[in-house]
Amino acid sequence: MQNIDTYTHVRGESIYLDDIPELAGTLYAAVLGSPMAHAQILKLDTSLAEKLDGVVKVITSKDIPGKNQIGGAIPDELLLAEDEVHFEGMPVAMVVATSAAIAKKAVKLIKFEGQLLEVITDPRVAAEKNQLILPPRTFSLGDVEKAFETCEYVIEGIAENNGQEHLYIETQGAYAIPLENKKFRVYSSTQGPTAVQTHMADVLGVPMHKLEIDVTRLGGGFGGKEDQATAWAIFCALGAYLTGKPVKYSLDRMEDIRMTGKRHPYSTDYKIGLSKDLKILAYAATFHQNAGAAADLSPAVLERTLFHATNSYYIPNVKVTAKSCRTNLLPNTAFRGFGGPQGMFVIECAIAKAAESLDIEAAEIQKRNLLNTGDEFPYGQKAVSEAHECWDAVAKEKLTVTRNRISDFNAQHSLYKKGLSMMPICFGISFTKIPLNQARALVHVYLDGSVHVSTGAIEMGQGVNTKIFQVAEKIFSIQPERITIGTTNTYRITNTSPSAASTTADLNGKATEMACMAIMNRLREFAAFSLDAKIEGVAIHHEKVWHNDKDTGITWEALIGKAYLARISLSEHAHYATPQIYFDGKIEKGHPFAYHVYGTALTEVTVDCIRGTYEIDAVEIVHDVGKSMNRIVDMGQMEGGVVQGIGWMTMEEIVYDKNGKLRSNALSTYKVPDIYSAPKLLNIEFRESDKENLAIFHSKAVGEPPLMYGIGAFFALRNAIKAFNPNSNIGFSAPMTPEKTLMGLYGNKS
Ligand code: MTE
Ligand code: HPA
Ligand code: MOS
Repeated sequence: MQNIDTYTHVRGESIYLDDIPELAGTLYAAVLGSPMAHAQILKLDTSLAEKLDGVVKVITSKDIPGKNQIGGAIPDELLLAEDEVHFEGMPVAMVVATSAAIAKKAVKLIKFEGQLLEVITDPRVAAEKNQLILPPRTFSLGDVEKAFETCEYVIEGIAENNGQEHLYIETQGAYAIPLENKKFRVYSSTQGPTAVQTHMADVLGVPMHKLEIDVTRLGGGFGGKEDQATAWAIFCALGAYLTGKPVKYSLDRMEDIRMTGKRHPYSTDYKIGLSKDLKILAYAATFHQNAGAAADLSPAVLERTLFHATNSYYIPNVKVTAKSCRTNLLPNTAFRGFGGPQGMFVIECAIAKAAESLDIEAAEIQKRNLLNTGDEFPYGQKAVSEAHECWDAVAKEKLTVTRNRISDFNAQHSLYKKGLSMMPICFGISFTKIPLNQARALVHVYLDGSVHVSTGAIEMGQGVNTKIFQVAEKIFSIQPERITIGTTNTYRITNTSPSAASTTADLNGKATEMACMAIMNRLREFAAFSLDAKIEGVAIHHEKVWHNDKDTGITWEALIGKAYLARISLSEHAHYATPQIYFDGKIEKGHPFAYHVYGTALTEVTVDCIRGTYEIDAVEIVHDVGKSMNRIVDMGQMEGGVVQGIGWMTMEEIVYDKNGKLRSNALSTYKVPDIYSAPKLLNIEFRESDKENLAIFHSKAVGEPPLMYGIGAFFALRNAIKAFNPNSNIGFSAPMTPEKTLMGLYGNKS
């Protein structure tokens, strides 16, 4: 079993939003984004746009039939601006026209005039002005003040990470078709069909049952379509509502980059305290999250930063506080890792700085503090740890050899320097918002014995449909040709959680398992009845009914036909909710995760010390997969995640000017990893174990965790810079672009 989409993908036959055949009369939308980051709207003149040939309607907030509100966690986000704009790119008006080109041309004819207001881009400035999305949150364990007093070494500093553009290959978009009686069918490139349906119902002022959201697959989401696909789907539905015609909007790349939020940048103060034997006794941090102009998913992202603030380490005294700061930038949103990477980056900075000040390798501190089973996280859950096993497997095979080879290389070369780093990870699996940890599956067996499975899972390239397919194949024990995975559709599966938090295969896979099992149990009971046999002796597998391990001659197809005639239900709808998890927000303690995923990466880099350019020579990983149910899919997730993480930490640089204008707003100014910047060697070893856990068939979630191995590249580069210039003033500011590397090679601490 590879991937059920391979065949149509390579033939170009897979259906994405833009491949859906358009109905006659389809109109096209385009949105005007605010040209100012913070302003009072003085004038919005649409008359010239309306006069353009082919323009059917120009829509502003006044045309909205229901509520002008699409905020997720907090109702603080308008679909279309009213009196004020608070980020550049904020939707102000929409044009519906007979072609996409005309709609875009008309957008340029809308006259916008605004009175500029104060623009805040820095989260620390926002915090000073008390511009917080919600009150700060703090997780703590032990007594950190007291513990710092007993520490032999106390090190403080600042760490900064930048954002990241999702750059899914398929841009945001939707296609809305009006049906009878104010019903709409909407095709949306979304990770969250229910988020689309909920907000669309509010904006149109219609009940949710009038809205059918349907998703075949996405050309990537990476978190960018968890909440932020909603607006584009609603624009189409609003256009369809107001014109009575199908309306489509598929953003071009620049519109997408300019108008959608990204990963959250953070600016963080940290303090770490160690004992003489390098045990981390105390850790404190204050995170300033740059939320942008609206809450979006920022509070949930912030929470995961706190959950992962101590990464893969046990620290007995911890106090970490996080502030979600409102600025006048694009509202930032979910991105693979969902705040976790930002938290983990800071503790790694703290460890690296401590190591540098003690003149030892960071690995010396890291390995002494890895989690053991039974250790308590600051949020109360106890670890079932694979941290040592993964670390030791990498260290034993590779660490000493690589270290020695690098020190020889560095002794022999003055203009090229190599560096290495170790990067352990620990990532919690479950939505941190407990109610989201539920899913449903609807399974039908047709008269010919073929099977159709619907779930709330969105296929976005991560292979979840293949995994769900495998679940049905295994439980029914039938030929793969008999099974189809349906589109994700809100009429078949209701109230879906977004496909996110790496939980999609676990949640929807378990629901599928339950539904298939229920049908199988009925079929077994029926077979026993028809054979006049005890149910214990009856089995159904390999497309046959077996009695006491003997073939009864009844085939799967015959069994289904007979069961139908006997009026046995051949359909099942099942509901799964993750057991055991809970969290008490008042004391910030609980057991929020079904389980954790562990692993360690060793990263080796070479820096060209004249140019500041570099290569990622190798990333060697031992990763805890539980018991992989699809090694090819999981390996794809690992490789993609690592490269995406390296991109975030090294070359992807989002730049806003002080007026809140996004300067890196195209692929000419925003550089993502290509084949040349991917590691020359990417060696991933799965550490398989069959421990009891809540993963589907014990196959642990793999979507997000590998991204965090990319953090290792930052520290390997830093070490290479320090090998060239031990007195370098290089700071803890990601990404480590070639420009910053060059400055670090030649800039000295004063
Ligand atoms: N892989 C591909 N190819 N495309 C994607 O959009 N999204 C990532 C990850 N891997 C993504 C991906 C993110 S952000 C998450 S949360 C998970 O996949 C979601 O899918 P899962 O829950 O099935 O792992
Ligand atoms: N991950 C991703 N998306 C989410 C989460 C999470 O933990 N919580 C709410 N939405
Ligand atoms: Mo992933 S950031 O949880 O969509």
